[in-house]
Amino acid sequence: MRRLETERFSEHYMVREIVEADICEVFAFCRTNPFFYETVGGRSVTQEDIRRDMRLLPQGKEKDDKYYTGFYENGHLTAVLDLIDGYPDEETAFIGFFMVDGTQAGQGTGTRIISELCDYLKKMGFLRVRLAYARDNPQAKHFWIKNSFDAIEEISHIYGEMVVAERSL
Ligand SMILES: CC(C)(COP(=O)(O)OP(=O)(O)OC[C@H]1O[C@@H](n2cnc3c(N)ncnc32)[C@H](O)[C@@H]1OP(=O)(O)O)[C@@H](O)C(=O)NCCC(=O)NCCS
Repeated sequence: MRRLETERFSEHYMVREIVEADICEVFAFCRTNPFFYETVGGRSVTQEDIRRDMRLLPQGKEKDDKYYTGFYENGHLTAVLDLIDGYPDEETAFIGFFMVDGTQAGQGTGTRIISELCDYLKKMGFLRVRLAYARDNPQAKHFWIKNSFDAIEEISHIYGEMVVAERSL
């Protein structure tokens, strides 16, 4: 079983897995992006949502395939990334969740993190990165297109219509 090295996800940020003791901090972090939660589920985020997301796995994947990580700069939680190794196939890394501190939006942080992450995943032999975003979230759509993710299909989800997008590495 391959394990990825979270500390190599970024050149700039200290990256580590988020644990139960971090939930309060992650909760405060998520609340800096209220608009995002309107587009997925239409209600505010709760600590229970975070606890569930920390364990959430796509079908057929196991705990060891999941990296629910925080990106820290001088001890400050700047971004949260949920990465699944090998979904839907071995050559694909799947981003289940990605968020940047809302108070730092629009400063290039998200683009920098995704770019460094893709560099590392390419070195690890992945051929592509896949994710899904809410069709009705124009900020997410613009961000992922700007970061070279191409829409490949639309799917209906319990959270509403989602666009599945991929970036080749
Ligand atoms: C989408 C997100 C990750 C972008 O992070 P970021 O650090 O602001 O990204 P960058 O500064 O690298 O890029 C900014 C781009 O994001 C989009 N964007 C981010 N915040 C925005 C806002 N408040 N209004 C409009 N566009 C916004 C724009 O497309 C912008 O592109 P531009 O530079 O051409 O204007 C961040 O806004 C976020 O965490 N949003 C909430 C969670 C989310 O939507 N995650 C992605 C879906 S899974």
